[in-house]
Amino acid sequence: MHATSRIVTSSQLAPHPRLAEIVARHLREPYRREPSAAGRAAFATVVDRLAASNGSFILDAGCGTGLGTFALARAFPDALVIGVDKSAARLATAQRVVCDAPANTLLLRCDLVDFWQLAAAAQLRCRAQFVLYPNPWPKPEHVMRRWHAHPVLPALLELGGTITLRTNWRVHADEFAQALRQAGWSAQCETFSPGAPLTAFERKYAASGQALWRCVAAGVSEGTVSAGTVSAGTVSAGTVIAGDVGAGGVGAGKAVETPDSTGATPADA
Ligand SMILES: C[S@@+](CC[C@H](N)C(=O)[O-])C[C@H]1O[C@@H](n2cnc3c(N)ncnc32)[C@H](O)[C@@H]1O
Repeated sequence: MHATSRIVTSSQLAPHPRLAEIVARHLREPYRREPSAAGRAAFATVVDRLAASNGSFILDAGCGTGLGTFALARAFPDALVIGVDKSAARLATAQRVVCDAPANTLLLRCDLVDFWQLAAAAQLRCRAQFVLYPNPWPKPEHVMRRWHAHPVLPALLELGGTITLRTNWRVHADEFAQALRQAGWSAQCETFSPGAPLTAFERKYAASGQALWRCVAAGVSEGTVSAGTVSAGTVSAGTVIAGDVGAGGVGAGKAVETPDSTGATPADA
């Protein structure tokens, strides 16, 4: 990792002026998109794996090379931690470099838009969602590519759990909080210093001395949150269809240095 990672530059210095209108439209109008066949096939693995577990799961949305997924799995040994990413190359890196993936890990190649839509249709409820350093899409005209302004937002919220977004762009965290509050959630933002970086991107940004931001949000039933510590929410597996257990974790390979501590204690979920 370089210690000179680029900071996010944007002509947008505050939450997008149209964000409230965009979020209101998404919350009002159903998203009429058919999940892809590949997404359905990937999601079937999740259903199978949950059917063989206690149903408690955590989503690492956009897990990249999986460091965060593995760290979360170690921090939450009683939950299945599902790392989802659309990049085969990044997931392949995870499989190459890790030989001690916790057994409660599932890495899945899937478009998150498909994943959230299918999870909502299956009425799954997770314990926590981590959206760690998502692509910021800093151009104002790309605002709807940010997850909180994407039409998949209602499905993301239906999956539930406490939601943690981390970013190196303050506007992104502020917008995320604004959108979730508009949806009736409690959300708090703050800047923070990761003791031990949770993900590869966090490590890169922290090593470059960049300010990092986190937003932690909870739905009404889970009460209010503070960005640092989130009280435990209830766990409900939702609808899980019986099936075989999918392949767990990642394949054998060379060990990689992973964070000793995630900075995400069980209290974070
Ligand atoms: C900036 S990287 C962050 C990776 C990791 N969370 C970290 O912090 O190191 C963003 C990740 O989101 C993934 N991603 C972006 N859009 C996605 C989508 N629609 N479905 C699944 N993954 C997506 C990318 O492939 C990439 O790995």
